[in-house]
Amino acid sequence: MPKGLFLSFEGGEGSGKSTQVARLEEWLQREGREVVVVREPGGTPLSEEIREVLLRPREEEVSPWAELCLYVAARAQLVQDVIIPSLERGVVVLADRYLDSSLVYQGMARGLGTQRVRTLIGWATSDLMPTRTFFFDVTPEVGLERSRRRGSMDRMESESLRFHQDVHRGYIDLSATEPERFVVLDAGQSPDDIQTELIQQVRTLLNDL
Ligand code: TYD
Repeated sequence: MPKGLFLSFEGGEGSGKSTQVARLEEWLQREGREVVVVREPGGTPLSEEIREVLLRPREEEVSPWAELCLYVAARAQLVQDVIIPSLERGVVVLADRYLDSSLVYQGMARGLGTQRVRTLIGWATSDLMPTRTFFFDVTPEVGLERSRRRGSMDRMESESLRFHQDVHRGYIDLSATEPERFVVLDAGQSPDDIQTELIQQVRTLLNDL
């Protein structure tokens, strides 16, 4: 088992998780920890190319299985080339999205079924699981409005409100089935309050390493 600490960050659009991950990275560095941040899809040359393919708006209706396989392909490369080697060096890995995004977006909201999606991801990632997963809980109405203000919407953000509501419900249901892994954060709080809660949780995990 790798000796680093693997944490993932999940949530719908505009949940503020990427900002919090960046702030947590700075805090960890100030604490003298080596930290690697990855975001999905992406993080290796191949995975970044797949990201572009996945997020570019297109006329053609994308098959949910094609979509899933592309996300999983990008993840397989990232796990092999970045996440596992980093954990073996003993560093802290912060993943801005990991398997739960596929379970929720493709398994639940697209309706492919979480069990089948989980099996596929297990094969592609050697069953590598994060120690803790932080779910940034914000309603899709609020989150999408934040994304809209940031500028043009990518292919996933442009999905219907109904789709994003399914995503939100999916995260809530999934986090309830694995309460020992998930930490649910109220993403409607102020950024400073969220960061304080996050640091408290991560400090405990580092002490237990
Ligand atoms: P990104 O711009 O990284 O979104 P965010 O800032 O919200 O994290 O785009 C990633 C998009 O891809 C996002 O809409 C969620 C979606 N996604 C999936 O549908 N399945 C997956 O497995 C992953 C990793 C992401």
